[in-house]
Amino acid sequence: MEMFTTTSAAHRRSSDCIIVGVYGNGKPGKGAADIDAASKGHLGKLIKQGDISGKPGSTLLLSSVPGVKAKRVLVVGLGKTGKFGIRQLRGATGAAARVVRDSPAKDVVSYLGLEDVADADVYYRARYTVETIGNSIYKFTETKTGRHSRKAPLKKIGIAAGSRGDATKALRGAEHAQAIVDGMSLARDLGNLPPNICTPAYLARTAQKIARQNKSVSTRVLGEAEIKRLGMHSFLSVTAGTTLPAKLILMQYKGAGRDKPVVLVGKGITFDAGGISLKPGPGMDEMKFDMCGAASVIATMLVVAKLRLPINLNVVVPACENLPSGTATRPGDIISSMSGKTIEVLNTDAEGRLILCDALTYSRRFKPEVIIDVATLTGACVVALGQHRTAVMSSNDKLANEITAAGISADDRGWHMPMAEEYEKQLKSNFADFANVGGRDGGAITAACFLGKFTEGMNWAHLDIAGTAWQSGVAKGSTGRPVPMLSEFILRRSRVIP
Ligand code: BES
Ligand code: MN
Ligand code: ZN
Repeated sequence: MEMFTTTSAAHRRSSDCIIVGVYGNGKPGKGAADIDAASKGHLGKLIKQGDISGKPGSTLLLSSVPGVKAKRVLVVGLGKTGKFGIRQLRGATGAAARVVRDSPAKDVVSYLGLEDVADADVYYRARYTVETIGNSIYKFTETKTGRHSRKAPLKKIGIAAGSRGDATKALRGAEHAQAIVDGMSLARDLGNLPPNICTPAYLARTAQKIARQNKSVSTRVLGEAEIKRLGMHSFLSVTAGTTLPAKLILMQYKGAGRDKPVVLVGKGITFDAGGISLKPGPGMDEMKFDMCGAASVIATMLVVAKLRLPINLNVVVPACENLPSGTATRPGDIISSMSGKTIEVLNTDAEGRLILCDALTYSRRFKPEVIIDVATLTGACVVALGQHRTAVMSSNDKLANEITAAGISADDRGWHMPMAEEYEKQLKSNFADFANVGGRDGGAITAACFLGKFTEGMNWAHLDIAGTAWQSGVAKGSTGRPVPMLSEFILRRSRVIP
């Protein structure tokens, strides 16, 4: 996909399709007003006739409008005047993108960014526009045959800007968005792939491919023998029931000399059957998404490498399956971790924390400036926050606030949940240093407290994406979250947002 900006008036812009908006009261937006004038009142007539309503999400695709250079004009409803914010911009752009996706248009120019958007400047308007279009035309085609596998024909996205100066900022936004879209598409592909294809080895090969294609990235993959030598018995206890070999995937990007790195750790359970604490059958297929944390951190590495950001980044992914078998870990087993601490495994389905604790201990060697783990960790998180907010937990409130602020800017939101001592007590074990579960109450928080026992002294935060990483039902599929939030966090730390 190619990005560009344009300062041409809407009617002068030659393009397969231009997107303009009309408000609910019939008032044309800036692009639509220009088209209306050039076409001697064509749009005004359609508004009067009721063909264009201005209702949010409504669309009308027009061909060969007189006086207009573009082949097609796509008119989209903007809703109430004075209420046009980020949500409305994204809603209107998404509706338009779905029409474009199903049309033969190879390039599109959006004029919606010319509207006043209360809570977004030129850079973010361009970013949301490209992110929304890029995400709307995403199709998962890898495991379908026949005509379904045709990808959308769209090749170019243009952003209209009011001045040369705005165009420069908009182009920056569009380029950042393009990298974020590429990252999200990778994360979504990895999430959507079935667990018989997206195995730990597949995740490792994906990381290696990124390193081959981006000179600034290097990758190392450790096998079970090395994982054992490191003393990661907690990680190994989870993979004990499967025949697929576990992998510890390490990626490194150097863009800032000897600065301390940001470290991202992602949960890479390529299928979570629960182990001996077997999950119920219905919906178990969705546990193929239990590697979405891993996918999001590998994808964020791709974003950072594509944008050549001036920052150092390390990615650590423990990847394995959690299956029951005669060799699987039992409830009641006591294992040791790389940190030396012992863990009583009371529930083999609380496996994410068991692989993450060793990955977090391993990450100490990078002396992180900040370390963030990302995991589809608990069903309790879905109960607490639903699908709309990622849970953000940290021993450092300032870091948690920095992450939630990044989530707001990226329109990929999180919510700060508490992480206090009172909760930690629920992890007491009579037999080991602690148990791997803390009961039903506050389950997302006790999971974070478990990880907190391995991150002492580090500037650490934990993102529980159990609710946000994928959707169920007819829209079943990976969302690519929290790639925008993580990318924004790093873009801000790299100081490259105008
Ligand atoms: N991967 C699951 C968490 C999960 C469940 C995410 C449902 C999204 C939807 C995790 O490994 C798990 O099974 N957690 C247990 C923990 C419990 C045993 C303390 C859970 O949430 O039930
Ligand atoms: Mn589990
Ligand atoms: Zn899991």
